[in-house]
Amino acid sequence: MATATSPITGAGLKPAGMKWPEQIKYVQELAESGVKLLPPQYIKFEQGQALHEPTVVAPPQKLPPVIDMFDINGASGTAEKKAMLEMLGSACRQWGIFQVVNHGIPPALLDEVKRVSREFFDLPMEEKLKYANNPVTYEGYGNRTGVQEGSTLDWNDYFYHFIRPFSAINGQKSWPHQPEEYRTVISEYGEKVVELCEALLSIFSEDLGLEKKDTLLESLGGDEELGAGYRVNFYPKCPQPELALGLSPHTDPGAMTVLLQDQVSGLQLKKDGVWIPIPSRQDALTVLLADQLEILSNGIYKSVNHRSTVNSKKERMSIAIFIHPEGNKMIGPLEEVVKKSGRSPLYNEMTFNEYRIFIRTLGLKGQAILSSRVINT
Ligand code: OGA
Ligand code: NI
Repeated sequence: MATATSPITGAGLKPAGMKWPEQIKYVQELAESGVKLLPPQYIKFEQGQALHEPTVVAPPQKLPPVIDMFDINGASGTAEKKAMLEMLGSACRQWGIFQVVNHGIPPALLDEVKRVSREFFDLPMEEKLKYANNPVTYEGYGNRTGVQEGSTLDWNDYFYHFIRPFSAINGQKSWPHQPEEYRTVISEYGEKVVELCEALLSIFSEDLGLEKKDTLLESLGGDEELGAGYRVNFYPKCPQPELALGLSPHTDPGAMTVLLQDQVSGLQLKKDGVWIPIPSRQDALTVLLADQLEILSNGIYKSVNHRSTVNSKKERMSIAIFIHPEGNKMIGPLEEVVKKSGRSPLYNEMTFNEYRIFIRTLGLKGQAILSSRVINT
């Protein structure tokens, strides 16, 4: 640690400077150079430690549910709709993650999203470096999360940029210029994902017993100011995958995340002390609930602790859209939820901008960062 700050409370943290503490090495380059041994900076586990904590492959009935939006929309009948809504509500309470099918986003568009996103990583390094990111906004091409010097690193490179709110972003300045269709494809996909999330937020509001369906959306800034970021995670083949992680354990800081995966699985979630791999389903999008929804719901909904693994045979790509509050919005437990449940507020209030500085300085820390918001009574 570079400061005497508590790693968990982050008290006294300043926004990070413009530079990463060490020179960035891109994982893709390392992988392509044919390294046979994992460089020490990426070693997370000792040999034989089997990814540190037990991993349990669960049968389908013990996995987070698959939510059919066709049923949710009432197209199969009212009984089916009711059953599906119950399943969704309990997924938010028990898992903090579910998959959605019949989500209304055409498979051809999803294929295009994957294609244009993947093509960025095929550009010559010289071209990619024009987009190199920094710890202030994270926008652009990079490969670390958190700015502490000497941290062990994750086996991935990524590309990140905002897609919303338009009032807060630099237009599409930091978006890749190649391939040519990138902007149209990603704008269209982004809007469709936001639409899906707004529909889900309205269902969540009802499920939490809130009087107005738009309460959660409004608490995050409303349709105009709701934020969204776009991140492509690229996990090259890893020479010793059992010693590394693609992404260290974390909860997502925003409100919710929609993850689009390619054919290669790697996402795992932690439940009851074990890691459970989530199979990659090509017809499904994975929805992860994140910190701000746990906070707004005063802990009724769970922000899911997750990580991703890597493998030696196949590279993997995942695409995350992070839905988050407008940066200056103060977020704390909703009064209506607190009153209804009879429990006092469990989390302190903070704007998303303040919370973001925390996370960007500290990196991925399992549930510790969210726990730092819990009010000790
Ligand atoms: C993320 C994330 C998981 C994955 O981008 O925050 O958790 O499987 N991704 O890539
Ligand atoms: Ni995540």
